[in-house]
Order: sequence, then structure tokens, then C-alpha cells
Amino acid sequence: MTEGTFQRVAKVDEIPVGESRSFEVGYERIAVCNVEGKFYAIEDVCTHDGSPFQTRRLLGSVIECPRHGARFDVTTGEVRRMPAIAPVRTFPTKVEDGEVYVAVEEE
Ligand code: FES
Repeated sequence: MTEGTFQRVAKVDEIPVGESRSFEVGYERIAVCNVEGKFYAIEDVCTHDGSPFQTRRLLGSVIECPRHGARFDVTTGEVRRMPAIAPVRTFPTKVEDGEVYVAVEEE
């Protein structure tokens, strides 16, 4: 997991349960995913061929790439279905005062 400085990305209710939303955070493009009320952040870049995940409905804790259908567990970054073989990067999250924060490294 990549550690860094927490930055605010959204209000809690802007990312509904079972969905993801994409944000620019520092120099990173991040998909923030709401899995049963808990927030997870992954790099919004599929490791198969670089597609963004964009706004997606999750399959439990799994996100599916819109391009060729690779799947990743957003809680760990691990691949759940080919054609991707490498995990996606994950980032720490926290919730404070109804806002979601993601920690990314500063360049
Ligand atoms: S770019 Fe994501 S599955 Fe191919």
C-alpha cells in the first residue's frame, strides 16, 4: 500500500454503497470504492492496458475493468480475473466529519 499525505476527495454520500468514483488526487488518478460503507482506494489505471475504471458498480469488493473485463479486489488490489496479472496499487483512506480522505505520495 502506498503511504502519503491524506487529501480530501469527496463527501461520504457522494460515493454510494457498492459503487466507485474517480478523482484526481495530487498527481494520481484514484478510484474510491464504497464496500458496504467502508472506503477503499485504488489507482484508477487497469494494470492490463491502462484503462481507467471510471464510475463502476462493484461486484461485492470487486471492480471490473470496462475494457477487457479484468477484475480486481479493491480491498487488496489483487487480481481476481484475467487478462490482468499484476495487482493495482492501493492507497490508505480515512473518514472524518463526513468526508473521505485518501493518502497519496507527494511528488
Ligand atoms: S485494460 Fe483493463 S482489462 Fe484490459
